Amino acid sequence: LGEPVLAGRKVVITAGGTREPLDPVRFLGNRSSGRQGVALAQAARDAGAEVTLIATHLEVPVPHGVNVIHASSALELRDAVFEHAPGHDALIMNAAVADFRPASVENSKIKKRDEHSAPVIELVRNPDILAELVQARRSNEQLPGVIVGFAAETGDEQGTVLEYGQAKLARKGCEMLVVNEVGASLTFGQDTNTIQVLFADGRPSATASGSKIDVARVVIQELAAEINGHTT
Ligand code: C5P
Repeated sequence: LGEPVLAGRKVVITAGGTREPLDPVRFLGNRSSGRQGVALAQAARDAGAEVTLIATHLEVPVPHGVNVIHASSALELRDAVFEHAPGHDALIMNAAVADFRPASVENSKIKKRDEHSAPVIELVRNPDILAELVQARRSNEQLPGVIVGFAAETGDEQGTVLEYGQAKLARKGCEMLVVNEVGASLTFGQDTNTIQVLFADGRPSATASGSKIDVARVVIQELAAEINGHTT
């Protein structure tokens, strides 16, 4: 299981994907299974950390030996993160957070009014939880010294996956960003993953490829190095 590189450390990990309610029975969701986040929780636990997993609609079982908190929507996830992150050494924001939510949630199921018409759903922006945490940390030293973001990126004519990742790391203001390339058949719901870990302090990026637990162990090793660098 490797060295207990996180012995005595407390880590919060968000995993899964949020669901944004439309009415009592419907939601807008995403394809995140929570596999990578659960693997991170296992790897952090195996490295000796006390782990709190904030779970949003996981398709896989929660690992033994970690504390589990449940949240559903992005707003609930924000509340849970702000409640549980204080006093922890690191926060890993692995959950796929919906960028938009329905502007209003109906109290009863949206009905078909006639044979042909369909409702138009207005969306509003959700808060960027990661960016808010980084901002709030400026005046709250209880918030984690190491904040890790995840980015599912695709390259295009304007830039590579790595370039988009570096820009996002700078924009979000977190210490580490784990970038993976996504596409129709890549990453989501799969058992394997290829990632690059980028660091805000400019040290060289690390790469990992393999099963989600193999990749998680690399991320946790890099996280431990980052935490230890911050406290010595
Ligand atoms: O900007 P983008 O959504 O690609 O950033 C992804 C990272 O930001 C992930 O770590 C995700 O958990 C986090 N995030 C967030 N709040 C949002 C959207 C994304 O914390 N509303």
